[in-house]
Amino acid sequence: MAKRPARQFACRACGAVYPKWMGQCEACGEWNTLEEIAVEPLAASSPRASSKGRRVKLEGLEGMAAPPPRIQTSIAELDRVLGGGLVPASVVLVGGDPGIGKSTLLLQAACKLAAKSERVLYISGEEAVDQIRLRALRLGVGQATLDLAASINVADIVATLEAEPDVRVVVIDSIQTMWLETVESAPGSVSQVRACAFELIRLAKRKGFSLILVGHVTKEGALAGPRVLEHMVDAVMYFEGDRGHQFRILRAAKNRFGATDEIGVFAMTDRGLEEVSNPSALFLAERRGNIAGSAVFAGLEGTRPVLLEVQALLAPKSGDNAPRRAVVGWDSGRLSMLLAVLETRCGVKLSGMDVYLNVAGGLKVAEPAADLAVAAALISAATGMPTSAGEVYFGEVGLSGEVRQVSQADARLKEAAKLGFDKAVLPRRIARGSARTKPPEGLTLREIGHVADLVTADMEAD
Ligand code: TYD
Ligand code: MG
Repeated sequence: MAKRPARQFACRACGAVYPKWMGQCEACGEWNTLEEIAVEPLAASSPRASSKGRRVKLEGLEGMAAPPPRIQTSIAELDRVLGGGLVPASVVLVGGDPGIGKSTLLLQAACKLAAKSERVLYISGEEAVDQIRLRALRLGVGQATLDLAASINVADIVATLEAEPDVRVVVIDSIQTMWLETVESAPGSVSQVRACAFELIRLAKRKGFSLILVGHVTKEGALAGPRVLEHMVDAVMYFEGDRGHQFRILRAAKNRFGATDEIGVFAMTDRGLEEVSNPSALFLAERRGNIAGSAVFAGLEGTRPVLLEVQALLAPKSGDNAPRRAVVGWDSGRLSMLLAVLETRCGVKLSGMDVYLNVAGGLKVAEPAADLAVAAALISAATGMPTSAGEVYFGEVGLSGEVRQVSQADARLKEAAKLGFDKAVLPRRIARGSARTKPPEGLTLREIGHVADLVTADMEAD
């Protein structure tokens, strides 16, 4: 039998476990994130394990009762990301940088739920009850019949929840402040965070309430990040955004009860988070027409079309240094590829230039469909000719410069028409006459087969 390790170490950033201490975590590459954790109990098969296992009941696939209805929070953007609302007896982890708005969002959601006469408990380990009351007043939800508590002691919280009847939703803000007496390490350590989450999750499953755990993402410092809990919970959501920008995005990273590619968009205002049901209008609000180096990308976030402005800036590189390639909101490897394609296949000279690329508003784009918009922005920056203000772009660009099909063209076109755009540049249909529904009213389509077509169009327009 393999000898049980005497000590174990876990990474605070990603939760990977090692038998010895190392300076760098091999799994996530972070430095100085390993800490000693309590060694896990013996495996059940071990001869030293004391109690013998009982037989479990085996069942067939059929015979399930109808699932209990979801608990809708009445915040549509949140419900969308959850996959239609909270599932009873499930656990959702909401992660995000400190100060991004997790407590605000969950307090608002808790109050909305309470207003629908659901029994909701909001337990904070970070703020006193009066502070939460003040925040609720500021958010204009001070009248809700919410049950508040300030506690960090999980044993107390469990005892309270055991005794309270009809609890439907429990918010724990945050899991890193929670503490179990039986675990010998400080709050926020991997062992504490895991043990506290385990206790609370077990209770949620047994009592049938929905549990929402808040977890701060910590780049450095001594706190265990939400990733050490990802495998223990049913859904993981990250609340993202740039503190300098008003809007926030809630993104599902894992969801046992729904799709993971949905996003919820919010704007942080002086009265809390407001839902943004039309994100394109928000992202394009500050766009100035008639500036070279800008192009509008008709993108998709999950199932939702979103229009975004891509900005490119070129400047002559200084001295003998290698040219700079700085990218915000897009993949830098993809930018290098596109620059090479433009240079080699379209004769656009960019190698002597520093290139800066930015997706305005702070959103991160992962779709290859953005290639064409990025190419248009780069060509526009290189030629000094603005793209037309009423134009949107989408399409993937291949290494030979060919423009490839992307999914959901119709949804993208519809969104563009809705926001008043009048022209879309998109990939050419593969087979002539293949199915494409009529473009929406007021939108003309320009189908191109090669990125070089963008360059010639600019010449023609000249
Ligand atoms: P908070 O929800 O406390 O963040 P987290 O729980 O993720 O740490 O949000 C704090 C920030 O939000 C704070 O910097 C101020 C801002 N804020 C507003 O702009 N408007 C508001 O109505 C509220 C409540 C907070
Ligand atoms: Mg908070």
